[in-house]
Amino acid sequence: MSEQKEIISTLFERGVLVNRDILNRKVDGSLLEKIEIESDIIVLNQDYAEILVEQNHLVDWYEIDQYRVEAEKERDDELYQTHLQHFKKSIVVVGEAQQKKEKKNIIISSLEFELNNSHSQPSFTNEAKIEAQNPINDNPITKAGTSGDPRHSIINNTINYIDENRTLTGAAHLSLSDNSSIVTVIISHKNIPHKYSVQDFTNFFVSRYHFLENILRHRQDLQHTSTIQRVLQKKERENVSIIGLVENIGETKNGTLVLTLEDLTGRIKVFIPKNKKEIYKEARDVVLDEVVGITGMCGENVIFGDTIVWPDIPSDRKLKKGDVEEYILFLSDIHVGSKLFLREEFSKFLQWINGQIGNEQQRAIANQVKYIIIAGDLVDGVGIYPSQEEELELTTIQGQYQEFSRLLRQIPLDKKIIMCPGNHDAVHLAEPQPIFYQEFAPGLFDLPNVTLVTNPSLINIGKTTAFPGFDVLIYHGYSFDYYVSNVESIRTNGGYHRSDLIMKFLLKRRHLAPSFTSTPYYPSHQEDPLLIKKIPDFFITGHIHYSCVANYKGVTMISGSCWQGKTSFQEKLGHEPEPARVPIINLKTREVKVLRFG
Ligand SMILES: [Fe+2]
Repeated sequence: MSEQKEIISTLFERGVLVNRDILNRKVDGSLLEKIEIESDIIVLNQDYAEILVEQNHLVDWYEIDQYRVEAEKERDDELYQTHLQHFKKSIVVVGEAQQKKEKKNIIISSLEFELNNSHSQPSFTNEAKIEAQNPINDNPITKAGTSGDPRHSIINNTINYIDENRTLTGAAHLSLSDNSSIVTVIISHKNIPHKYSVQDFTNFFVSRYHFLENILRHRQDLQHTSTIQRVLQKKERENVSIIGLVENIGETKNGTLVLTLEDLTGRIKVFIPKNKKEIYKEARDVVLDEVVGITGMCGENVIFGDTIVWPDIPSDRKLKKGDVEEYILFLSDIHVGSKLFLREEFSKFLQWINGQIGNEQQRAIANQVKYIIIAGDLVDGVGIYPSQEEELELTTIQGQYQEFSRLLRQIPLDKKIIMCPGNHDAVHLAEPQPIFYQEFAPGLFDLPNVTLVTNPSLINIGKTTAFPGFDVLIYHGYSFDYYVSNVESIRTNGGYHRSDLIMKFLLKRRHLAPSFTSTPYYPSHQEDPLLIKKIPDFFITGHIHYSCVANYKGVTMISGSCWQGKTSFQEKLGHEPEPARVPIINLKTREVKVLRFG
């Protein structure tokens, strides 16, 4: 009995309520460690304990809690059970330690299909044959919709908001008659070069502050927020709350964290001592230039912080489900041109997507794939990292894109392909990165089923007259390196193997690169273009060459894998890529599978 009391008390201290059914179970140190990582978990029952033991992947506890409550009220146990299974299966990411390797293999084999390739050497030389099997060349939607000529996606304004209703009126009609898939570009960017001044940078940060402040001000903890100037004028000690941009992060000799926050009226220091364990732990993850809310007690020109509030996304969002049985799949980091490009594995992928290999079910899925997102690094580029030329098979950028286009032409035309650049592509590194340059990659502009978008961008897919479609945020992920290095909770919980933690970190901050130095920026926009203004249904990234799928508050976060072996540069940085994986989602059920081609 005393042991049970201890469990209840230990978990209560961590903010977790214990269900009666867990009391007969041994709650050991490793389970407690996992609970510690999952900051969103508020109830522990036998089911949750099993999920925690079986995996070390992010689970959307808010969502599963909603289903649990429905089940406990005897309304819908099936939904709860289905989602338990889903989370138990959604396991891709594991720790780096060698001793965990065995477990990793077991987990992956339980999740992934390995395509049963009965064919020997794949060959894609006979393009005509493939097109003949998929006679969709004259599909009218590719001409009428935004998914047609990719040049239609080139945007003339700083940020383009295509009038979805206008665009889709015609397209939806066609969709009903020929069952074609719809792609609408909601946000793409165009950088307007000019002589930059300090004002450009000021506008940039002020727009960021205004947008995030507006979200934060609606949070319950921050209903009575004061400006920093007003807090500085207070003579008495009293509870206050402020919203500010993090200008500096420091530490006193005794380890108290000191955040300097500024708003449009002034700046103030916020002290967070080590003995306030909960806020101290959260505050260790604060990064420069992000906008947060703080509540606490004001002193003389300082605040002693009690809580930190992030903009985040609402907890009550539900996983949206489509009304058509179709699939979307995610590729990234193809790196064509590299000697380490996994040609054979990519050929297997092309064979599968053409329905030429795989078992009956896998071929049926290939046929139902309607959307393919490629999140950057189509080619390896030239001069990207030291001594790269020694690892290049194709040494010119034009040659690399020509080969990439040749491969892409082998994807059946009924699949809509949406692509953005990454840091290896031949566009400038500063974000937003423009769509590809026709001069270097003319082949991409000739593909009728391709939509080219900027990095980042927001698109909508699958809209019909009865369904609003899915919003897909695409970002290559160049800022990820910074957060793996600088955010303790990401670095110590799997780093590059936990892109789910990175994506959750960014969604909580409603920004793709909150720290100014985490990625090169282009301050040529009226508004900060890397804000996550509209909450997507899917958040798609690449860059780290390690695939991952997880849910966070109704957003499915996906990191693509790669099609390149480990480079010498990655070897030096300690990266462990996991190539030739293809996450794929059934848009009607939101069920996730990861196909393995190597
Ligand atoms: Fe890459």
